[in-house]
Amino acid sequence: MKITVRVWRQANATAKGRMVSYEVPDVSEDMSFLEMLDVLNDRLTTQGEDPIAFDHDCREGICGSCGVVIDGKAHGPQQTTTCQLHMRSFSDGDVIDIEPWRAEAFPVLKDLIVDRSAFDRIIQAGGFISAPTGAAPDAHAAPIRKEDADDAFDAATCIGCGACVAACPNGSAMLFTSAKITHLGLLPQGQPERRSRVLSMVGQHDAEGFGNCTNIGECTAVCPKGIPLETISRLNRDLLGALVRGGDE
Ligand code: SF4
Ligand code: FES
Repeated sequence: MKITVRVWRQANATAKGRMVSYEVPDVSEDMSFLEMLDVLNDRLTTQGEDPIAFDHDCREGICGSCGVVIDGKAHGPQQTTTCQLHMRSFSDGDVIDIEPWRAEAFPVLKDLIVDRSAFDRIIQAGGFISAPTGAAPDAHAAPIRKEDADDAFDAATCIGCGACVAACPNGSAMLFTSAKITHLGLLPQGQPERRSRVLSMVGQHDAEGFGNCTNIGECTAVCPKGIPLETISRLNRDLLGALVRGGDE
């Protein structure tokens, strides 16, 4: 395939950005989207031009670092990570727009790379258990309802990619925050700090400049791990309980 990409180029955090067009001939449908960018970057480097900066690490849908907006959609046309998107999702002659996440709390650092450290600070605010839990217990040593174990596991699959924020018209990170809160809130180990956790993490979410959730649902529609909107309902129930009863007993 021969395609054209229009890529957001921005030299640094304070520079003015713009879309720049590049032709990419010889794209195989078996290439991942990031491999297509690698091919383009090889050519740019050979020509002495600055390669396009984009974030990536695992390239197998685990680390959450690779997200970009493709043709206006977070992670592109498939509900997967950008690294797991393949060029077979596109056609010969396509013109593809590639932009960084657009959200006040995710400032652009360079080209397609944004600063997602706000997510780290939300986790630091309460996404952990401070009680000494000893060594890893044997599986099934703590009795947990199957439904709770399954839901906690599903919530724990959030990879912190930020697509939910990029897709949300409010720039809200509630799906991410609720996944982290639900993961711990459904397990016995997460109970002692359950109320202070939700107060602290939601407080940090707001302090970082993320918007509020108005149940639009764009977040879950682009989430590569399928975190459901119901997870935000769990957060709201926990938050209401903590606001009424106060912090931990
Ligand atoms: S909730 Fe989904 S879209 Fe949001 S950060 Fe987690 S994995 Fe990414
Ligand atoms: S590079 Fe790790 S999820 Fe895409």
